[in-house]
Amino acid sequence: MPILYDAGAQTLTIHTLRTTWQMKVMHHGILVHTYYGPRCEGDMSYALQYLDRGFSGNPFDAGMDRTVSCDALPQEYPCEGSGDYRRTAFGVRDAQGVSGCDLRYAGHRILPGKYSLPGMPAVYADDEEAQTLEVTLRDERLSLEVKLLYGVLPAHDCITRTAVVTNRGGAVLTLENAASTCVDVVRTDLDRIVFHGKHTMERQPERTPVSHGELLLGSRRGTSSHHMNPFTVLCEHEATEQSGLALGVGLLWSGSFSGSIGADTYGATRLLLGIQNERFNYELRPGECFTAPEALMVLSAEGLTGMSQRLHDVVRKHIVRGPWRDAERPILINNWEATYMNFTGEKLLSIARRAKELGVEMMVLDDGWFGRRNDDHDGLGDWTVNEAKLGCSMKELAKKIQDMGLRFGLWIEPEMVNMASDLYREHPDWAYVIPGKPPVRSRDQLLLDFSREEVVDSIYSRINAVISGCGIDYIKMDMNRSVHDVYTVTRGLQSQGKVLYRYVLGVYDFMQRLLDANPELLIEGCSGGGGRFDLGMLYYTPQIWTSDNTDPIERLRIQYGTSFCYPVCAMGAHVSVSPNEATGRVTPLSVRGAVAMAGTFGYELDLNLLPDAEKEEVRRQIVTFRGLRRLTLEGDYYRLTDCVTDRDASAWMIVSKDRSEALLTWVTRDVHDNMAVLPIRARGLDPEAVYEDEATGESWTGAALMYQGVIIPRHRGEYSVRQYHLLRR
Ligand code: GLA
Repeated sequence: MPILYDAGAQTLTIHTLRTTWQMKVMHHGILVHTYYGPRCEGDMSYALQYLDRGFSGNPFDAGMDRTVSCDALPQEYPCEGSGDYRRTAFGVRDAQGVSGCDLRYAGHRILPGKYSLPGMPAVYADDEEAQTLEVTLRDERLSLEVKLLYGVLPAHDCITRTAVVTNRGGAVLTLENAASTCVDVVRTDLDRIVFHGKHTMERQPERTPVSHGELLLGSRRGTSSHHMNPFTVLCEHEATEQSGLALGVGLLWSGSFSGSIGADTYGATRLLLGIQNERFNYELRPGECFTAPEALMVLSAEGLTGMSQRLHDVVRKHIVRGPWRDAERPILINNWEATYMNFTGEKLLSIARRAKELGVEMMVLDDGWFGRRNDDHDGLGDWTVNEAKLGCSMKELAKKIQDMGLRFGLWIEPEMVNMASDLYREHPDWAYVIPGKPPVRSRDQLLLDFSREEVVDSIYSRINAVISGCGIDYIKMDMNRSVHDVYTVTRGLQSQGKVLYRYVLGVYDFMQRLLDANPELLIEGCSGGGGRFDLGMLYYTPQIWTSDNTDPIERLRIQYGTSFCYPVCAMGAHVSVSPNEATGRVTPLSVRGAVAMAGTFGYELDLNLLPDAEKEEVRRQIVTFRGLRRLTLEGDYYRLTDCVTDRDASAWMIVSKDRSEALLTWVTRDVHDNMAVLPIRARGLDPEAVYEDEATGESWTGAALMYQGVIIPRHRGEYSVRQYHLLRR
């Protein structure tokens, strides 16, 4: 049993295969956190120090005992008002606007299986794979109940957390904060890694030592954002890819979020992650409850690689759902970088025909197929097919493409409206506009108020009419601006925090309805590339367009950063033209192909325009990827270089779980005269086994590949690549 209650010691212990989390009910019902680390047995509270700390207040019921203070002891779910002066996880105001609460332990239950969260993404598991701990905290004065939920997947060293807050009294309460997780560890010799970025350069790792000043992370954009991913790492200073303790904490949430990591004055580090609490003010009426987004924690004593591999397994088997979870994803061609919005039905068919001839499996029609959508300024929200532009109905186009033996996919951006659209003219109050204030425009579009059910209903039925009506196989679900001017006409829903929370639930509801109506549909998430690449989206969209940046050399860094939390099979990656449309960089097709194969793989160009030799190369790439697809879907991923700091070459590896097959790829980047030797050491192989490279027939022992490595040959000119498809003999 992974969850143990010791009535004598008053400890609640969660064991996974290799880790332990423990909390203890102290005198006065204060819930302290006693341990999170490699697996340990027994009562870990022996390490807590009860000292009289000046200026750290004591709970009233501790009497004259000045050694008990929530400010100086690690807390399980610290709240504002308990005497803990650090940043806390929870805060609430009463009907008079007075802030301050006092949450105490009121009971717990150990339940079979993993809890779920209605209408929200959550890790799922079979009953034999998981257990749930529910700890109830109560504030008597406020008649407020907080249920802390812990889901335990022992095999993956994964613990999930959330908090469900219920107003059990008769007066309205206002939530100021309700974080999803708090991790208090009594040590500060740690580093934190955040994944920051921007449009076209997402998820760049930045590692800094934990310091007394808190590091704040988060998004105030209404989405998880390009700018900071809702995933962070806390690790030992000496943690490397291969060794040391590394904790990955992510949020299954696609809206604004906030987190903080910092050291306190008494030698402890606190990590908080949850919903964005700035302007949160979530009104909780009598009987109403609020569910915090789920946080997921994976701890590894085998360094960053161990952490990432466990996260990837959880994502692949316990977050991604539906028929596409275990299925090989179609190799697609998308017309965006080939035509932008300037296409005809004939042009699309010619792209599709050539793609099919070279082995592509799905054609995706991007932006511009509806309303008067020929540029950024018009038509968003008008989900009627532009038959004049296509020269036929969508059903006919879909049939023509599907008759070629291709699947057919469409781009949508359901949350948006252009002011120049019939939808906006009909329903101006559906968009986020603050009365009297000219709205902030971005890409000349406004957001629809997805916190309102009738808005979601209407957009869903318009879009689903096309999807269900035309037999669409795939959707690229886009979202191309940050949220602003949040204002809803719904009575009683005015707090911006509540609107934004409901907005995200509306987006989830929209996707769930599409999946319910079209169970075979594959949805690829997108937000100007990877602006909403998070664990929450992956519950609905098994893959996400990683970045609008398709330059393979830039992609090395983007995909590298993304790999810390997310598996290769979640990363949309396409081959596009050279010189690259955005950066102008010239790269060989071989490099573009190999980099896209570290993702879902596809093309985003007009293959008709390639010289014949490159068309043949595309044909060969597709055959190669088909042979690697199962491996990239299921294998263990290894980062062999640091793609941010190792400028000369980047390398990575994917190894099958049984170590019988591996793909090792290196790409050279900077070139110098008189270059140093560049060895790339493999990882994860069976040292005793002999592996043969499928293409060349060369063979090495696993030990040789791992300890001596392969040597990148001396080269001239930038950007060469080699893929070794290694098969155990
Ligand atoms: C976003 C996406 C692109 C493309 C355009 C269409 O930028 O990330 O891939 O779909 O929108 O407008």
